[in-house]
Amino acid sequence: MSSLLETREVGKSFGSVIALNGVSTVVNAGEVTCVLGDNGAGKSTLIKILAGAHQHDTGEFLIEGRPVRLSSPREALDRGIATVFQDLAVVPLMSVWRNFFLGSEPRKGWGPFSWLDGRTARATTKKALAEMGIDLRNVEQPVGTLSGGERQCVAIARAVHFGAKVLILDEPTAALGVKQAGVVLRYVAQARDRGLGVVLITHNPHHAYPVGDRFLLLKRGRSLGCFDKADISLEELTRQMAGGAELEALEHELRGVQQ
Ligand SMILES: Nc1ncnc2c1ncn2[C@@H]1O[C@H](COP(=O)(O)OP(=O)(O)OP(=O)(O)O)[C@@H](O)[C@H]1O
Ligand SMILES: [Mg+2]
Repeated sequence: MSSLLETREVGKSFGSVIALNGVSTVVNAGEVTCVLGDNGAGKSTLIKILAGAHQHDTGEFLIEGRPVRLSSPREALDRGIATVFQDLAVVPLMSVWRNFFLGSEPRKGWGPFSWLDGRTARATTKKALAEMGIDLRNVEQPVGTLSGGERQCVAIARAVHFGAKVLILDEPTAALGVKQAGVVLRYVAQARDRGLGVVLITHNPHHAYPVGDRFLLLKRGRSLGCFDKADISLEELTRQMAGGAELEALEHELRGVQQ
């Protein structure tokens, strides 16, 4: 069976800046592919290609085994690829249930005489959140009053509810404390267990390792490799992310200063 998504030696340049060069990875149903790398490593550029916001210049991007070139995020969504961006996931002043149905509101009546079916929307939102184990006091409250972690959880539940096959999360845990990050990672695992292919972008190997099945390491637009969990330990992942040899040299230097 072919992977949900696959990139083969994918590359992308912006003018003279090579943002991505020769990056290969796969996203399978019921698995989490983690994309790790420092600032400017090319993580967002890669997921924007997967999400239809950018087009690759070189290499191949395949959906279920077929080479594609997505022309818009809408096209990606129609093919079941849902992306949750760090800040753009929700409209803060709108209620939780309005956000949940944004762009896909259930309507009553017909054509110009239709109206938003708020009762159904509220009840469906409550049910979908409860199914993911998310217990919100009130779906009327503005999303802006939720914590960062809760917002991410609503966005994840939304993608699951509307039948996404692939869920892409760009640094969902970046601004969160330890406890909240743990909650978000639990929902990432739930989405995985429901059979979605998840792409999780993070700086933090401690967030990636417990949920990840595969780890793509990027550095300055190039791939340092895509490792199955069995082939890389948390220590090695941390070492690679910290800059490996560079960090050891720095540690050595700093120790020298102390003495
Ligand atoms: N639209 C653009 N125009 C020009 N250069 C860009 C554009 N988008 C990204 N780049 C460049 O491509 C490189 C990779 O950027 P990208 O945003 O993919 O990194 P990132 O790994 O997501 O970093 P961060 O962790 O800071 O979010 C950077 O050098 C960036 O300046
Ligand atoms: Mg980024």
